[in-house]
Order: sequence, then C-alpha cells, then structure tokens
Amino acid sequence: MIVLTGAAGFIGFHVARRLGAAGRSIVGVDSLNSYYDPALKRARLDILCEFPTFRFVEADIAAEGALEAALAPRDVGAIIHLAAQAGVRHSLEAPFEYERANLAGHLRVLEYARGSENLKHLVYASSSSVYGDRADGPFRETDRCDAPASLYAATKRSCELMSETYARLFAIPQTGLRFFTVYGPFGRPDMAYWTFTKKILAGEEVTLYGEGRLARDFTYIDDMAPAIVRALDLPPADVPPHRIVNLGNHKPHTVLDLVAAIELATGKTAKRVLAPRNAVEVQSTFADITRARALYEFEPSTSLHDGVARFVSWYRQYTNS
Ligand SMILES: NC(=O)c1ccc[n+]([C@@H]2O[C@H](COP(=O)([O-])OP(=O)(O)OC[C@H]3O[C@@H](n4cnc5c(N)ncnc54)[C@H](O)[C@@H]3O)[C@@H](O)[C@H]2O)c1
Repeated sequence: MIVLTGAAGFIGFHVARRLGAAGRSIVGVDSLNSYYDPALKRARLDILCEFPTFRFVEADIAAEGALEAALAPRDVGAIIHLAAQAGVRHSLEAPFEYERANLAGHLRVLEYARGSENLKHLVYASSSSVYGDRADGPFRETDRCDAPASLYAATKRSCELMSETYARLFAIPQTGLRFFTVYGPFGRPDMAYWTFTKKILAGEEVTLYGEGRLARDFTYIDDMAPAIVRALDLPPADVPPHRIVNLGNHKPHTVLDLVAAIELATGKTAKRVLAPRNAVEVQSTFADITRARALYEFEPSTSLHDGVARFVSWYRQYTNS
C-alpha cells in the first residue's frame, strides 16, 4: 500500500492518477484546506475515487496522531509525501502556516515512517527555492543551499535536513525531489500561469514583477509525474539511504516568455504592468538534471508553448470561459 499525502493537490492528483491507472493501491491523505478553492481539490478527488484501488482519508498530517489514526493498520510499503503549504509570496503573510504544514507536518510523516516496519521508501517534495537567489544556473544537487530567500524555501530545506537525520538514525530510505515550477491542467490557482491566464482572458492587467525578466525552469506536469513514480520504485541503497534529486525542465524561460505563450494560446493580448522585484522572488531557477537522467531516464520534452496551450485549453473547459 502506498500512502500519498497531498493527494487532492495539483502534483498529488497527477501522481495518484498514474498509480491508480497502473492498478496500485493508494491511500490519499489531504486536509482539503482553503489556501485555494477546495472545489478544485474535490474535482480532482472525484476523478481519483473512480479508481478501485484508490481510497481517500481527510486528515491534517500536522495534527498529533492523525496519520496513525487515519492509516491503521500500519501496512504501508511506501509514502509519497507532497502535502505542504506551498507558495513563496504567501509565506510573507502567513508564516505559521508554513511552520505547521511543512515543519511539523514533515516531522509527523518521518515519525510515522519510523514506526512503519515494512516501509521501503519515503519520497518527499522539496523545491528549487532551496537554491536561493542565484542567476548562475544550472543548479546542482551538490551546491550549497544555506541562503534561502523566503520562509517557504527555509522550511523546504529544513525538511531535507530532517530527512537526512532520520535516514542516518533510523535507516529510513528516502528521496527528496526538488521540483522546479510545475504547471499544467488541474494546476494551482495561486501560480502565475493560472492568474495570468485568468486575467488575460478577462482583459485585466497582469503585473510582471522584476519587469518580467525573472526566469523559471517551467516544468510540465506530464514530464514530471512519471519521474516521481519512477523515483518511488527506486529507493536509494546509499549509506545513509537518502538522496536529493532535481526535477526540472533544464530550459529556463522568462515570465515575459510565459506571457507570450499565454497570449498565443488564448488569442488575446496581455495588458502588461511592469513592477519591481519582490524580495522573496528569486532571479532565476535552472535545474541541472544529470542525476535524474541517470536514475530515472528523466527527459522532459514538453515545450513551454505546448504545455501552456494544453493548460489554457483545460482552463477554458474547467471554467467555461
Ligand atoms: N507546483 C510547484 O511548482 C512546486 C514546486 C516546488 C515544490 N512543490 C512542492 O510540491 C508539493 C505539492 O505541491 P502542489 O503544487 O501540488 O501544491 P498543492 O497546494 O496543490 O498541494 C498540496 C496539498 O497539500 C494539502 N495540505 C496542505 N497542508 C496539509 C496538512 N497539514 N495536512 C494534509 N494535507 C495538507 C493541501 O490541501 C493540498 O491539496 C508541495 O510540497 C510543494 O511545496 C511544488
């Protein structure tokens, strides 16, 4: 049995869908919080619940005893831990949500893993944000990561350090995946590709921080999700059994490129408003993917134009716009 936290979230949904299609047994856990519209989380769950091997449990992973109560009896073979408070900018406004979901939540998952005798692997979500504010990519897993630009990034780096300790102390096999700006259908309403699409379709202004010159290694979900499944089936045999792997597109684009792709896909012209950079927004992200290539044969192939076109087409259908 595979436990998947954050199953009602964007990435969790796509991973669960692949596992369900392969006939694998999954228990999805999610608190369905209202950081963004829970109706989208429920729409994702409606699709997942059609798989006979998928079961959903609503629970807050950060609450004491919640995982143990939700997932008894404890016959878990693997955990994919994706539940978190995501979003870089929101961590300026609601820091304690990050402390709870990301720090306490990750530690609860580690403790649950520690007490699970048959556990073969814990895969968890980290983030490109751990690399800090740099413009000298590609970023390698061996680079120093001790200058996070946001509290979100600091919590994600802390998760990696907690995992390293639990791998050393309790030999729990773990893989931390550093995701680089993932996008696609059923995506996240708080992310730029979604808010820009919404505003461009409505004829509203879009504010481009850093004057649109910030670059992101936008990675399409259908390139990313299979690599997460492959990672699950490949626990590290190293001592300690803990591995960190970048999953990014290895091809950064500026936010101006993103806007141009949305314009093309929607057939509308954006009303751009250029604004200075926000302190928590890093200059660029750019993944070195040598490790993921070697381990998972990871070879992202979706161009920004194709990925954005697929997102916009889904978005129009989902919102009837
Ligand atoms: N999407 C990206 O570009 C990206 C990039 C880097 C890292 N990540 C990480 O990947 C993971 C998945 O991200 P996503 O984009 O799918 O985000 P998401 O917000 O769509 O999914 C996260 C899910 O976790 C759930 N959750 C939050 N706190 C919880 C708690 N205490 N207990 C139970 N469930 C809880 C939420 O309800 C949500 O459904 C997160 O850990 C995120 O930090 C995402």
